[in-house]
Amino acid sequence: MGMKATSVKGRCFNLEDYDTTYKSFNWSEAEKSFSWSETGLVNMAYEAIDRHAESDKRNKVALYFSDKDRNEQYTFQDMKDYSNKAGNVLKKAVGVEKGDRVFIFMPRSPELYFVLLGAIKLGAVVGPLFEAFMEAAVRDRLEDSEAKVLVTTSELLGRVPVNELPHLKHVVIVGSGVKEEGLYIDFYKRMETASEHLEIEWVDREDGLVLHYTSGSTGKPKGVFHVHNAMVQHYQTAKWVLDLKDDDVYWCTADPGWVTGTFYGAFAPWLVGATNVIRGSRFSPEDWYQTIENYGVTVWYSAPTAFRMLMGAGDGLVTKFDLRSLQHILSVGEPLNPEVVRWGKKVFDLRIHDTWWMTETGAQVICNYPSMEIKPGSMGKPIPSVQAAIVDDQGEELPPYHMGNLAIKKGWPSMMRAIWNNEEKYESYFLPNDWYVSGDSAYKDEDGYFWFQGRVDDVIMTAGERVGPFEVESKLVEFPAVAEAGVIGKPDPVRGEIIKAFIALREGYEASDELKEEIRLFVKEGLAAHAAPREIEFRETLPKTRSGKIMRRVLKAWELDLPTGDLSTMED
Ligand code: WTA
Repeated sequence: MGMKATSVKGRCFNLEDYDTTYKSFNWSEAEKSFSWSETGLVNMAYEAIDRHAESDKRNKVALYFSDKDRNEQYTFQDMKDYSNKAGNVLKKAVGVEKGDRVFIFMPRSPELYFVLLGAIKLGAVVGPLFEAFMEAAVRDRLEDSEAKVLVTTSELLGRVPVNELPHLKHVVIVGSGVKEEGLYIDFYKRMETASEHLEIEWVDREDGLVLHYTSGSTGKPKGVFHVHNAMVQHYQTAKWVLDLKDDDVYWCTADPGWVTGTFYGAFAPWLVGATNVIRGSRFSPEDWYQTIENYGVTVWYSAPTAFRMLMGAGDGLVTKFDLRSLQHILSVGEPLNPEVVRWGKKVFDLRIHDTWWMTETGAQVICNYPSMEIKPGSMGKPIPSVQAAIVDDQGEELPPYHMGNLAIKKGWPSMMRAIWNNEEKYESYFLPNDWYVSGDSAYKDEDGYFWFQGRVDDVIMTAGERVGPFEVESKLVEFPAVAEAGVIGKPDPVRGEIIKAFIALREGYEASDELKEEIRLFVKEGLAAHAAPREIEFRETLPKTRSGKIMRRVLKAWELDLPTGDLSTMED
């Protein structure tokens, strides 16, 4: 049932011998290639860009960027210069200092990456936000992080409630016709005169790097805090898992608003000095295949929903493009169906390598390596030297084939270091014997492969994006007609899950299709398009506990025609 690893078009693998490396690897080996092993101080952006600009990789292409309007390329030297300039804009015009939170709310563009790297060079903590976020989502994140600076575009500015954000000191606008007044700074105007020389802020490896907000099953999104040290694991997994080499052209399809797009769409490939493709348009099968063909992409990292959509577009389409450059394909974010792996083998003659990790783990943890046998449907094995296990709620390890909590032993390099302003939440991830509990359930087989079973909580994974039901419910009840709302993930063949909302209306409101549409639009415009329920069902009442909490598991059981389980806490 496995799929043997065969050398792909002469490719040799960075991780040849998993078992030996697993036992012998020491993270200090990864650190040797960084300057901080000598100085003790570090800056991720220096290691990702400047280090290569100062080497014989100076004129190597670091970034191929394109979208429907632009088609550009930047060498490592260019990236160094532009990120220095952007850093100077943030430093001089805006006064960004070490530790300040700088949020970035814009569609993918070269400027986004200049700002991202420039802010990191100043020692700032960066927070990339999805361009699809609407006002409430933007406000929650800027408020919680007490962001000092936001970098955005003229088009998105309308979604930034500047007057409600007392900590926000400046808004840097990337766009044309920007008027510098109040908080507003004109990015392009400032870039013109900004110096290419920037004094890098050398920080401690435990100093802040990134804040990525992510959804849980309760409460508002939480700020997952990562430090510079995470780059050790980004660097090493870029080798072992992405298998990047000097002549690779790498394309990660994720947006930096999602942790994959930041860590594996920018940091990891650049830390190993790879050529990185960033494509800024909306998904379309033709566009994606064309992108692979145009750039001669060799290593491609995407997500199951995208693969399923490509699969749905038909195998005939694949033959219209020259995709022979492809050598290595990877997937992340949701369960990768065996069917998709088989499809990949058929149309690309390549295996699709599943990888498992989370915003909180900060980097890939359980993976299928190019050199090893793949069991379609399995997420693979832990990266060398990191311990993963299936444990019960007390942290006792369970034997093979027993389903339980997927857990990782505390101490891997890229582990989150805090939940912003929420020590209690952070602590709640760990058991007393130092297992980090992921919230996923899984089992392990006798060969040490991990098999994903589902989420333990109510978190919804729709098209690879993590949506907290609470956030959607909170938005729904702001709508005048909605008295109560319960939100679940409903299985969907393409998107993994879709968001379904059960709604009880207030007195005097009539259920109708128009009303459903209005409600959907309200969430879409208030929160984010991907958070808007695709299905809405009106109910007289919703199942609740005696304390008034909506019982999502009962809604889910109803939806899926499953037994509802223990209802002893349900109100009459
Ligand atoms: C899910 C994404 C099955 C899982 C990098 C996890 C997966 C959550 C896989 C994290 C996979 C991620 N197979 N499920 N290979 N990879 N997940 O933080 O439920 O957006 O807990 O990070 O995605 O989502 P997040």
